[in-house]
Amino acid sequence: MNGMYGKVFLALCASTLLATVAGAPSTCGKLDLQTDPFTCCTIPKLLNVSIVSTCFEDFPIDKDALAKDSGMVPKTECMSECILNNTGVYNRKLELDEKKLTSVFTDSLPETSPWMSVVRKAVKECSAKAAKKDKEFDKAVAAQKKTAGKGTGPVCNPEASFLIDCIHTTVFTQCPVNLRTASNDCDAIFKFLKNCPFSALRQ
Ligand SMILES: *[C@@H]1O[C@H](CO)[C@@H](O)[C@H](O)[C@H]1NC(C)=O
Ligand SMILES: *[C@@H]1O[C@H](CO)[C@@H](O)[C@H](O)[C@H]1NC(C)=O
Repeated sequence: MNGMYGKVFLALCASTLLATVAGAPSTCGKLDLQTDPFTCCTIPKLLNVSIVSTCFEDFPIDKDALAKDSGMVPKTECMSECILNNTGVYNRKLELDEKKLTSVFTDSLPETSPWMSVVRKAVKECSAKAAKKDKEFDKAVAAQKKTAGKGTGPVCNPEASFLIDCIHTTVFTQCPVNLRTASNDCDAIFKFLKNCPFSALRQ
């Protein structure tokens, strides 16, 4: 996965990293591998690339914030909300349509794709997780609204970033075995992902 789509995905991983690593089991320490996990399995581009590009342009990700170890959380929430708005997953009241979420993530896949069941399962799991975090998301929005002033840009719900990141990382983690790159490092990475969140890979 490279190019713009990969960049967007990495930015989302970085932005949700802090939140998820905090809750990771202590056995999820750093894996000392030189292998880029993305070389271990190529997941299909699940979202409409032209919509992702438009939202990426409208809500650019600060390059400095993406720099390694910058300690900054990139402002990706509005980019993600834009993607779910433009794909019709959110209606005008920003209510999530779960059926639409499934179809948006599976429409680009051929009916017989080995990814179909993996993606459906990921969407289900991630929607359930997001529903549990509903109050947390509302709190984050309320806090942002309080501090938002002129020129700080729109306030967006972190739910969209959570969903897009969760679905992609879950799909990656569940990469069908016959589509994985055969190597010791990749074996170690998928073994690690059985018990640890994807974000812990990128500590
Ligand atoms: C992507 O979205 C655009 C804008 O909504 C639409 O015109 C286009 O047909 C979509 N492309 C695919 C491959 O679905
Ligand atoms: C998404 O749509 C809602 C409702 O139309 C709107 O209030 C919100 O600003 C939109 N978000 C983005 C990031 O464009």
